[in-house]
Amino acid sequence: MKKTRAVITGVQGWVPEYVLTNQELETMVDTNDEWIVSRTGIKERRILKGENQGTSVIGSEAVKGLLKKTNTAPEDIDLIICATVTPDMPFPATANIIADNVGAKNSWSFDVSAACSGFLYALTMGSQFIETGMYKKVIIVGADKMSSIIDYQDRATCIIFGDGGGAVLLESTTEEVGIMDSILHADGSGAPFLHMKAGGSRKPATHESVDAREHFAFQEGSTVFKFAVTNMAEVSAKIMEKNGLTPDDVAWLVPHQANKRIIDATANRMGVGPEKVMMNIEKYGNTTAGTLPLCLWDYESQLKKGDNIILAAFGGGFTWGSIYLKWGYDSK
Ligand SMILES: CC(C)(COP(=O)(O)OP(=O)(O)OC[C@H]1O[C@@H](n2cnc3c(N)ncnc32)[C@H](O)[C@@H]1OP(=O)(O)O)[C@@H](O)C(=O)NCCC(=O)NCCS
Repeated sequence: MKKTRAVITGVQGWVPEYVLTNQELETMVDTNDEWIVSRTGIKERRILKGENQGTSVIGSEAVKGLLKKTNTAPEDIDLIICATVTPDMPFPATANIIADNVGAKNSWSFDVSAACSGFLYALTMGSQFIETGMYKKVIIVGADKMSSIIDYQDRATCIIFGDGGGAVLLESTTEEVGIMDSILHADGSGAPFLHMKAGGSRKPATHESVDAREHFAFQEGSTVFKFAVTNMAEVSAKIMEKNGLTPDDVAWLVPHQANKRIIDATANRMGVGPEKVMMNIEKYGNTTAGTLPLCLWDYESQLKKGDNIILAAFGGGFTWGSIYLKWGYDSK
């Protein structure tokens, strides 16, 4: 009997309209366009403005678009998993709010917290429900409203992050396409280098914690950079090796968009040329769990059925990993 796999049958991204350029950041902190572009590759990022606009707005818009383009009825969705570190609120899960917004009445839903690797974690989990035959249609959302936890007085972080995300529909197939393999890692000893100091159970919000600006993302950039370069490159090379893939076999690398230099190092380690690397960091920055589905969405029209694609990410936790998939359809 042929193996049942989970295959992506549609992808949809969504970004807010407001564009925060490097030039505008120059008016907010001591930085400049040349430094930001040469050190990160980022030119602009999107910001979700307005009251009561949380990550669920990004996720819901993406899922609504996904349902429409794949002609899927919301009632047919079995499960929605939302990867995010900027949930609308600590509870309920943002995935629950998205499910309600899109009318996914028969679905259950939950959030995954794995920072920039969240989409990889969620995609791996979601695919298990399809492979076992338990579910027919699972939606994976990766979305973050990073502007809600970024200190726009901290030039080390505010230049990097932006808001946005996307969603994919997973369905079953017995063809030789879909999610082929996944390698995931976590190392909690990395927490001090990339985390939010207050607002959780360890240090609930107080006037003092707000005054000390502890409700923003803290990052020790150069330490994170070193871990990211090594681990994202290693895990991407490892999944190729494990599956007997040569650089020629790989059609696309879909790397987490944190820093162009980390992306280049990963592609080099894999032996994959720049023409095979999905990159949109210049227009969105780092949208945390949103980067991978946003890349797939931007490049969807170039993807062909059977393309070997490697997704790779590294992020807070530390968390990192890669997924090998074969693309499931030619875009219309
Ligand atoms: C944040 C990051 C872009 C900083 O780049 P970097 O090359 O490591 O820069 P450093 O932090 O070592 O700082 C170098 C110099 O630039 C300065 N600098 C830092 N931010 C700056 C900014 N926005 N504008 C201008 N100068 C800046 C520093 O103060 C430092 O100056 P000094 O040499 O006089 O002390 C980079 O470390 C990075 O991308 N880190 C990883 C991010 C990531 O992958 N996160 C994981 C997933 S979320």
